[in-house]
Amino acid sequence: MNILGIETSCDETAVSVVQDGRKILSNAVVSQIDIFAEYGGVIPEVAARSHLEAMLPVLHKALHDANLDWPDIDAIAVTHTPGLLGSLLVGTLTARTLAILHEKPLYAVHHLKSHIYANWLVPELLDPSEGQKTPILTGSTPTFPLLALVISGGHTQIIHMNQHNYFEIIGTTHDDAIGECFDKVAKILGLPYPGGPAISKLALSGDRQKYHFPHPKMPHPLDFSFSGLKTAVLRQCQSIANVDIKYPSHDIKNLLTPEQKADVAASFEQTAVDILLEKLSLSLGKYPVKSIVIAGGVSANSLLRRTLSNENISPDEYSFQNTPVFFPEPKLSGDNGAMVASAAFYEIQSGVQPTDPYKLNIYPRSAIR
Ligand code: KG4
Ligand code: ZN
Repeated sequence: MNILGIETSCDETAVSVVQDGRKILSNAVVSQIDIFAEYGGVIPEVAARSHLEAMLPVLHKALHDANLDWPDIDAIAVTHTPGLLGSLLVGTLTARTLAILHEKPLYAVHHLKSHIYANWLVPELLDPSEGQKTPILTGSTPTFPLLALVISGGHTQIIHMNQHNYFEIIGTTHDDAIGECFDKVAKILGLPYPGGPAISKLALSGDRQKYHFPHPKMPHPLDFSFSGLKTAVLRQCQSIANVDIKYPSHDIKNLLTPEQKADVAASFEQTAVDILLEKLSLSLGKYPVKSIVIAGGVSANSLLRRTLSNENISPDEYSFQNTPVFFPEPKLSGDNGAMVASAAFYEIQSGVQPTDPYKLNIYPRSAIR
């Protein structure tokens, strides 16, 4: 079954064709990162306008790369929640129009579900005989019950899944998401948006033990809070620069040396990863599971991957307290259409019915169900 997946919830215009939920036949993505790097964050109006410009070329590229035409497509899937209102509108209106025009069943998918299902997609391996990248269907898939650690720019949650398409949120953030915290700390240090990759890069030359940032104590132990960590980083920078706590956060970068910035980045990244592992450990104590899946943009983080990898077995194999850990292929950690198609495939397998293309609504905020 070939599903065309469309994703426009934030700042990536992405369309992909995936066969049977796992095999990526094409994966076209146009990112607006270059536009927003200098602003230090996404501007919703600009994002929506950019999606409009990119949508048709990206759609054509996805069909062209898959070497398919509309008769070969069995269903259309699109992100309808959560995300930026204008951005979601462009993706859903495109999907609704295509579903009506080509008479295809339409599936509306929750964005966090898609991030989780990126772990079912097969990594592209270099096939030396053909000299090109081809999906190789040998990888194992996560087994149930499982815990999904969803770490993105807008969400930080631990989700328990007994089976496909069953989601029980067992931990969530009370304030900032972890990716948002990476982005805000990057801004303090004068690094471009998105902050995660920039912090990781700078942290490589820093001392991870130089500064000690607090681990928040939550009333519900599996919940998260990241706004205090961001403030602690700001206070540390103000203290290094020997200025008052009223000193503006956007100017502090000019008072720090490159070494000081690298040490702050490294100590912050270490704390963020330690907090994630602490919560995973607590969750595993309460929910003994067969696998752990890491999902969302922050799953690209190399310190997190390095910490969980079994270097002595294989750098591509991960485990935590003897439970196998699944990561998406790094380029599928961020937003893409393939994960939307995969999530829709497993919804269909679970008996979910298509949605009415004349009535599909968007919801900028909603919990995974
Ligand atoms: O999942 P995603 O692409 O979009 C949302 O659904 O929010 O996540 C984007 C977030 C950004 O906050 C970005 O800074 C973060 O993922 N991110 C990273 C890394 N790559 C992206 N955070 C830490 N380390 C990274 N390597
Ligand atoms: Zn996302």
